[in-house]
Amino acid sequence: MNNIPPNEAKISARAVAAFANTPNPRLRQVVQSLVRHLHAFASEVELTEEEWLEGIRFLTDTGKQCDGIVRQEFILLSDVIGLSMLVDAINHRASEAATETTVFGPFYIAGMPERGHGENMAFTPGEQALVLGRVLDAAGEPIAGAVLDVWQTAENGMYSGQDPDQPLTNLRGRYRTDEEGRFAIRTIIPVSYPIPTDGPVGRLLQASDRHPWRPAHLHFMVMAPGHRTLVTHLFNHDDPYLESDVVFGVKDSLKVVYQPCQANHPLAARHDIDGAFRLASYDFVLEREIA
Ligand SMILES: [Fe+2]
Repeated sequence: MNNIPPNEAKISARAVAAFANTPNPRLRQVVQSLVRHLHAFASEVELTEEEWLEGIRFLTDTGKQCDGIVRQEFILLSDVIGLSMLVDAINHRASEAATETTVFGPFYIAGMPERGHGENMAFTPGEQALVLGRVLDAAGEPIAGAVLDVWQTAENGMYSGQDPDQPLTNLRGRYRTDEEGRFAIRTIIPVSYPIPTDGPVGRLLQASDRHPWRPAHLHFMVMAPGHRTLVTHLFNHDDPYLESDVVFGVKDSLKVVYQPCQANHPLAARHDIDGAFRLASYDFVLEREIA
């Protein structure tokens, strides 16, 4: 880093000191650190006035691309610079027994319908899939009545809400575990998809020669009373973008295989599936809520 001229260092010191009387100590710590690091960044790159204005424009455009429903460009920005995964890692350091976490992403919609055991959440075409498993506590005991809020894209790579041709409840739903902690989700095999590139985040990726693709995945938010809510994905194990996920979200423990099953497989009759399908299995482990 270059040596900062004294008058510039003085501006930074005064700006940090201006927040010294913030009554909330955590807010004081966060804001002072943020100001200190932003000043250090501007000094390090010797930010030009034109670049500063471009940065303001970029953030303004990012805000304008947020619609309050499914488009949340700031989360997308946080995701593609790895900040979301860093915050995730900081907040799950002691979770060794629990299923690993990954990004929440910008496409969750709350209040989706409750679905029965094995109910199909896919109203658009795709390769039929059944996802089975259990929700367990850290001691391996099943958790009955855990809720799994699930969401994924259609075969065209778009989430409901992004795509006017899909019903809003398509490929979304809330499943509940039975007495033995089991869940069953009927859906279609997830596909890789590019994050939206028609906004400022897309321009940033293009200017950086980065691709916009995410490896195929199924989103989960798993909740049970007394346990920490788990936000994670299950990734298709053979996806070509696993190593270069644009949001850095992949963890080895979250990869699943979708095994091919014939139409005469016993699970087909049990779950009322016509024709061949793919079967994936995964057990989620929740940790106790920290008191
Ligand atoms: Fe996603």
